[in-house]
Amino acid sequence: VRDGNGVKGMVDLGLSKVPQQYVQPPEERIDKLKAILSDNSPIDLSKLDGPDHDKVAEEIARTSETLGFFQVVNHGVPVELLESLKIAAHKFFGLPPEKKAAYRKGVSPSPLVKYGTSFVPEKEKSLEWKDYVSMLYTNDSEALQVWPEEIKESALEYLRTSIKMARRVLEILIEKLGVTVDDAKIDALIGLNMVNMNFYPKCPNPELTVGVGRHSDMGTLTVLLQDEIGGLYVKLEENRDEEEKREWMEIPSVPNALVINIGDTLQILSNGRYKSAEHRVRTTSEQPRVSIPIFTIPKPTEKIGPLAQLVERDGVALYREVVFGDYMNNFFSNAHEGKKSLDFAQ
Ligand code: SIN
Ligand code: FE2
Repeated sequence: VRDGNGVKGMVDLGLSKVPQQYVQPPEERIDKLKAILSDNSPIDLSKLDGPDHDKVAEEIARTSETLGFFQVVNHGVPVELLESLKIAAHKFFGLPPEKKAAYRKGVSPSPLVKYGTSFVPEKEKSLEWKDYVSMLYTNDSEALQVWPEEIKESALEYLRTSIKMARRVLEILIEKLGVTVDDAKIDALIGLNMVNMNFYPKCPNPELTVGVGRHSDMGTLTVLLQDEIGGLYVKLEENRDEEEKREWMEIPSVPNALVINIGDTLQILSNGRYKSAEHRVRTTSEQPRVSIPIFTIPKPTEKIGPLAQLVERDGVALYREVVFGDYMNNFFSNAHEGKKSLDFAQ
C-alpha cells in the first residue's frame, strides 16, 4: 500500500492472509448470515411517463423515507453502457501498477483525477479492502482531456445520462415534500458531479475485513452500478426484525438496474424526512468486485439547511445551515464512522 500499488497490487503479489492493518475490530466485521436479503422490486422509472406516475412517485418518496435506498430499471442509462462500464473498470484496475500510480494524489496530472486506496488511510485504524479512481466533472472537453483513457468515454456517457435521471428523481422527492423549490436551487443541489470506480480485490479473509466501512454519503443523491458479485448492505431501523436482530439488509445485484441512495444533504434539506442510510460493503474470497457510483453533490459555495417551508411547517429545524464546502472538508478529513458526518450540521 505504501508504495502506491493499492490492495490489488498487494494481492497480485500473492497473499495467504490479510495484513494486520486490514483486520477490522470484531464489531465492524460483516456476517452475511446476519443480514436480510432485500426483496423490494426495482422501481420502473419509465412508468413516470404513464398513468402510474403518481404511484411510482409515491413509491420513490416512501422508500426514501424508510430505507433511503432503492433500485431502478428503465432509468434511461443505456444497458449496453452498464456492461461497458464494468469492462472499463476491470481494464483500468488491470493496468500495470505504475500506470495507475501516476494518478495518485500529488502526482496526478490533474486535480480532477485521483487514484487511491481505502478512504482516508491516514485517519483509519483499520484500512478498507478497496482501490478506487475518482473523477470530478467540470465540462466534457476537460473530462475527455484528463480522465484516464481506458474509462473516460464510458464514464462521461454514464455521468450525462445518470445526472438527468437523478435530477428527475430529485424533483419528485422535493415535490413530495409538498414544497416548491426553483430550478436554480435544484441545479445547485446537484451542481457538482463525480464518477468513481471502485475495485474490491479477492480477499483471503473476508470475515475479517470490509470493502467499505459503515458510512452515509455526503451529497444529494448517489447513483450506483454494482456488478453481479453483490455485498452492499444497508442498515435497518433499530426496531426492524426484532426477533432475529438482523440489522442489515443486502441490496442484491439486479440485472440492468441502478441503485439510488439518499445522501446527507437531502436528509438535511428535508429536515430529516428522507433518510441518508448508513451502508457498508463486504469483501469476498471468490472474485473481485467492481462498483461505479456517481455522486451528485452541491456546489461547495452552496448553503445547505432544512428548507424554510419545512421548518415552518415542522416548527423546528433539525439541522443548522452549513456551507457545503465545509461539510465536504469535514467528511473527507475523518475515517468512515456510520452517520457521524451528519453531526457537523447539528
Ligand atoms: C460505497 O458506498 O462507498 C460503495 C458502495 C458499493 O461499492 O457498493
Ligand atoms: Fe457510499
